[in-house]
Amino acid sequence: MRDSLHRSRAALLAALFVVAACHPQPSAAPAPSAGPTAIVEARDATRVAMAAANAAFPTGWRFQVGAPATQAEHGMVVSNSRLASEAGVEILKAGGNAVDAAVATGFALAVTHPTAGNIGGGGFMNIRMADGRSMTLDYRETAPLAATRDMYVDASGKLTKKSVVGYLASGVPGSVAGMAEALKKYGTMSLAQVMAPAIRFAAEGFEVDSGFARGLRNDTLRARLTSFDGGTLFYPGGTAVQAGSRLVQSDLARTLRLIAESGPKAFYEGPIADSLVAAEQRGGGIITKEDLRRYKPEWRTPIKATYRGYTLLAMPPSSSGGITMTETLNILENFAPLPPAGSVKYAHLLAESCRRAFIDRNTKLGDPAFVKNPLNELTSKDYAKRLAAQIDVNHASKTPAFDMKAEGMETTHYSVVDASGNAVATTTTLNGGYGSGVWVRGGGFFMNNEMDDFAAQPGTPNMFGLVQGEANSIRPGKRMLSAMDPTIVLDPQGKLLMVTGAAGGPTIITATTEVILDVIEHHMMLADAMRAPRLHHQSLPDTLRYEANGMSAATVDSLRAMGHAVAPNRGGLANVNSILRVPGGWHGVNEPRSAGGAVGY
Ligand code: DON
Repeated sequence: MRDSLHRSRAALLAALFVVAACHPQPSAAPAPSAGPTAIVEARDATRVAMAAANAAFPTGWRFQVGAPATQAEHGMVVSNSRLASEAGVEILKAGGNAVDAAVATGFALAVTHPTAGNIGGGGFMNIRMADGRSMTLDYRETAPLAATRDMYVDASGKLTKKSVVGYLASGVPGSVAGMAEALKKYGTMSLAQVMAPAIRFAAEGFEVDSGFARGLRNDTLRARLTSFDGGTLFYPGGTAVQAGSRLVQSDLARTLRLIAESGPKAFYEGPIADSLVAAEQRGGGIITKEDLRRYKPEWRTPIKATYRGYTLLAMPPSSSGGITMTETLNILENFAPLPPAGSVKYAHLLAESCRRAFIDRNTKLGDPAFVKNPLNELTSKDYAKRLAAQIDVNHASKTPAFDMKAEGMETTHYSVVDASGNAVATTTTLNGGYGSGVWVRGGGFFMNNEMDDFAAQPGTPNMFGLVQGEANSIRPGKRMLSAMDPTIVLDPQGKLLMVTGAAGGPTIITATTEVILDVIEHHMMLADAMRAPRLHHQSLPDTLRYEANGMSAATVDSLRAMGHAVAPNRGGLANVNSILRVPGGWHGVNEPRSAGGAVGY
């Protein structure tokens, strides 16, 4: 016992040393070179990493400093389902590249993690090939052609729940078109090859784990899902599927086979389209064959941000993720060095920077096919400097408050790297957990409730409490503004360093930014950066949210004294899945607050 303890500690120290040896150094310090000096520097970096994490983890925090990461030499897949990560690694081992593996993981998530993994939703994929090519794919849902600006407002001017539950809540799904497009352009395998693991999981079934079963034991969700056709599969006899039972999804297996054999046409024009439109018509939905036929994913140039010598490649609109993260980091860059993670000053600067970036996000951004997004201004260093100058380092700014609405939330992010150094960061979602609840009978899948991401009534908060303006109002064919933020970070030498991103509505942006900052600014190891307590500020509601026990009472008091409304979040903030380059390979860490798997080889 003692021996094994000793061995695991030795393994941990070895891992720390390995990370420290190529752990990003402060931009002022030179990168370590080989030789004895490098060893001393590596030891120093390890000490810095441990000290940073120790300062950031208050007494009583749920995680300990120094947890190990999954380490692998060749490739790594990190997702919210171990089976889906294994599917990705199966494809990597069979000679596929990171894009092949990402598409395999994406389809597998639709089977093993149906609360967020999907073919009835949409997402964003950020790809960087080892030769330096970098691109993003937007396969966000679009508003159906029959959608209207005020379709969710009743005759008395009140916003209804129809953007959240039921047939009218869905946008036209983009996932199948997006994954097929990414595979066609940058993959090396066929759809049939990369979809084989997903088809196997659906046809043969997989063992339901406790997280999956627990997620279903929620009365609101039960009521929602059992009022549509999917209820019989997930609540057989009215009771949620049990942990340890085998979930076979024969309809979904057939749907996936059709896609594998005939490509996305099967979904957008063929038999799956027929089932989807039939379901819409039965339930009073408005998605038509024409909507499906017209759906197209869009390749877009990534937002390229720099932060103290590092480069971030991030998602442009129709996601707000890249711009909002860039603006936040640009503001923070004016405070050098940042105060330590866990300090009152750091929380204050983070909150004030996020507040300003979210004000712009919520009022100025929307689908670029409909709105002129002021990208250059919002991502410029000069603009950020002006915003930074408005921050009072001792006092909070103010924005009017209102109550936050609470809803079940589920999205899922996965990160992939292959042995050649190709990288893919993908975030995909149905929006709420199990989307709108609507189930495509015969098709075997849930539909999204992404229409709620529009400003269904500009000025009125959506399910995430986001108050947004006309730039994000509903128009036929328009993409609703997202917060998804799949991100790839390059080190100051331009080499792939990190692949990350998150689920969690607007907390996606803050959590992704914080994990990146914990690595490149505070020099934590990835496992600690992922476990560090998180904060969230989205301008409205004007509240700095923190994770319970993630801030000491004294820190909370100090922030209140500075004028912040500070409130604990009900659960963890966001769900991040990340990979970091280390000497000799990769560290992968799936979200410690949730289920998932980091699988490498
Ligand atoms: O695109 C968006 O910003 C939202 N539909 C994301 C929703 C989400 O992350 C839910 N939670 N985990």
